[in-house]
Amino acid sequence: MPEARIVLLPGDGIGPEVVACARQVLEAAARAFALRLSFREAAIGGAALDRFHRALPEATLAACRDADAVLLGAVGGPRWESGDWPERPEQGLLALRKALGVYANIRPLRVFPALASMSALREERLQGVDFIIVRELVSGIYFGERSEGPEEAFDVCRYRRDEIERTARVAAAIARRRRGLVTQVDKANVLASSRLWRGTVASLLAAEFPELKLEHLLVDAAAMHLLLQPARFDVILTENLFGDILSDEAAALAGSLGLLPSASLGDHAPQLYEPVHGSAPDIAGRGIANPIGAILSVAMLLRHSLAREDAACALEAAVEAVLAAGFRTPDLGGSDSSATVAGKVAEYLARAGQARRWA
Ligand code: IPM
Ligand code: MG
Repeated sequence: MPEARIVLLPGDGIGPEVVACARQVLEAAARAFALRLSFREAAIGGAALDRFHRALPEATLAACRDADAVLLGAVGGPRWESGDWPERPEQGLLALRKALGVYANIRPLRVFPALASMSALREERLQGVDFIIVRELVSGIYFGERSEGPEEAFDVCRYRRDEIERTARVAAAIARRRRGLVTQVDKANVLASSRLWRGTVASLLAAEFPELKLEHLLVDAAAMHLLLQPARFDVILTENLFGDILSDEAAALAGSLGLLPSASLGDHAPQLYEPVHGSAPDIAGRGIANPIGAILSVAMLLRHSLAREDAACALEAAVEAVLAAGFRTPDLGGSDSSATVAGKVAEYLARAGQARRWA
């Protein structure tokens, strides 16, 4: 097997801490499943502004383009919020997503049985909750024309049909392997871009995925249904901004934003993997950040970039076992450190590797 080149972008706040945990687990997976990996680290976000005065330095982008997969921690923090900086840390992340063309952001939401009591919802509402948000990631209001003045400002939400189609194809392909339901979320009663989404998704699914069931939901109603009947969702397909908001809301079902992973996929390598959470400057440097979102992002990397479903499943099972055994960071009401949780996941994974060798 050729060596897989992994670029690590720790970024800011708790980013470096969770990326270190994720790397430890990825190395354990490599040992257990005989994967050959090489690692390179590069600067992004505020850390890159400090060193290079750019949120996405050329060298970082070049390293990423040369990689098989990129694993990112988080960007941003109060230090870079003043007007003294040439750009915001977040611009580095947005520019990276755009440059890599990773247009479909996959955010799975699963409720771990061991954590049901941590959820914002009562346990009976959580029965059967298992959905995936597919968020368009490189267009829409995040990337439209923008103007910012003291008295007036605007952000344009623009979508092209082909941008919607390629994202819808990813969502449909995922739904085909699951329960076959795509819920497309928009604000078509107000926004023209939403009406383009609605029409485009409907004709694409009818033409290419006639076996799937498609429903359209307004984003305000979707926000409510996520709390009232979360188990009804299978694949939620939506534009960039709505996907950003709904995925944080969905995290409240799981119990902590720190648990959620994501994969950002395009038509070619490298793909980008990052936890859904942000840089959490309030707890940075204390070794207590929940590393599970980053660790489960490694599982997605194993699955999508390295085509190692076996290793991905073993890693997910290891996370589940570690949570069931009661290891938890403070966001989940526990008192374990990030390193303890990551170390336990690596240990369980190593055992899975042994079981595999004996099988
Ligand atoms: C996310 C984050 C980013 C986004 C920020 C940091 C720019 O909130 O990945 O969900 O809005 O996409
Ligand atoms: Mg977000």
